[in-house]
Amino acid sequence: MISRRGKVLVTGATGMVGRALLNELKNEGFSNIIAPTRQELDLAYSQEVDSFFDRERPSYVYMVAAKVGGIGANMADPVGFLLDNLKVEINLFEACHKYNTKKNLFLGSSCIYPKECSQPIKEEYLMSGRLEPTNEGYALAKITGLKLAEYYYRQYGMLTVCPMLCNAYGTGNSFDLQNSHVLSALVKRFVDAKDDGKKEVVLWGLGVARREFIHVDDVVGGLIFLMDNYNSPEIINLGAGKDITISELAGLIARKVGFEGTIKWDRTKPDGMLRKCLNTDKIEALGFSSRVSLKSGIEQTIAEYKAGNNK
Ligand SMILES: NC(=O)c1ccc[n+]([C@@H]2O[C@H](COP(=O)([O-])OP(=O)(O)OC[C@H]3O[C@@H](n4cnc5c(N)ncnc54)[C@H](OP(=O)(O)O)[C@@H]3O)[C@@H](O)[C@H]2O)c1
Repeated sequence: MISRRGKVLVTGATGMVGRALLNELKNEGFSNIIAPTRQELDLAYSQEVDSFFDRERPSYVYMVAAKVGGIGANMADPVGFLLDNLKVEINLFEACHKYNTKKNLFLGSSCIYPKECSQPIKEEYLMSGRLEPTNEGYALAKITGLKLAEYYYRQYGMLTVCPMLCNAYGTGNSFDLQNSHVLSALVKRFVDAKDDGKKEVVLWGLGVARREFIHVDDVVGGLIFLMDNYNSPEIINLGAGKDITISELAGLIARKVGFEGTIKWDRTKPDGMLRKCLNTDKIEALGFSSRVSLKSGIEQTIAEYKAGNNK
């Protein structure tokens, strides 16, 4: 278990995961947390990051900040998803090493796994095949981050744990259609369609792709659990352990919202990877599993969107 009195740096704390992490760390009794906004510390600038670490000297670093987005955003800006994320990662790893942090966490993503690998996806499938092209830039940046964790451990003994996260949703979701992930985008589409009295909602792809969703409360529970209990730079999956087709998900959300129109699938748009479900045996063997059910998580997300918290 890491010291509750040690200085903890949370990056990306204005985002969905970072904000929830900040709250949960406080609940867990951490008393010395720093969480600069991008205005206070832009992680893409090495000089800024170096000066910040020199001044603050954090003991534990959660590398949560990243440029994040759905298929549309990734396809429109592959350069940004690769370069921006690489800059942030390189600057943070270098600073953690230079200023001798005690332990770090680098948050990865299930996007790092090959497009066509056996399901559910085991950690050992990393780099065993080609990546999904729609978010290749983002995935390459994440793979570089987890390799940096491995190399820094091997070469210098600096320990960074690397959870690979499936689709996360929950409080703090972005509902901006350009940048949001599928679950929050669907909630917005169906609530808006119902409010506007629309008879039809058109969605991307065929709806056959299967995806796994974890609530952000379970995500941050898992991150704190791994910082406390896992002591290896080898990647470890953090997921819900079960998946659902996008068409089933859309139906579930439509029913919860009370949308009675039809759902039409736009076959000219991509589905992304056909199936993406993480094998969670490794983290479960350590004693962690997710708790929030998809149904209650969706109800909560609909309520939050309707309340206008995240528009
Ligand atoms: N959400 C998911 O489904 C999912 C799935 C797998 C992995 N992940 C990983 O989980 C992490 C958090 O995701 P999220 O959903 O919470 O994303 P998010 O809501 O978009 O938050 C991203 C955070 O990173 C910050 N950030 C980005 N670039 C920065 C920079 N150059 N300097 C300082 N701050 C910067 C953002 O600051 P601004 O507010 O100023 O932009 C924001 O606070 C990411 O590493 C992501 O790759 C997420």
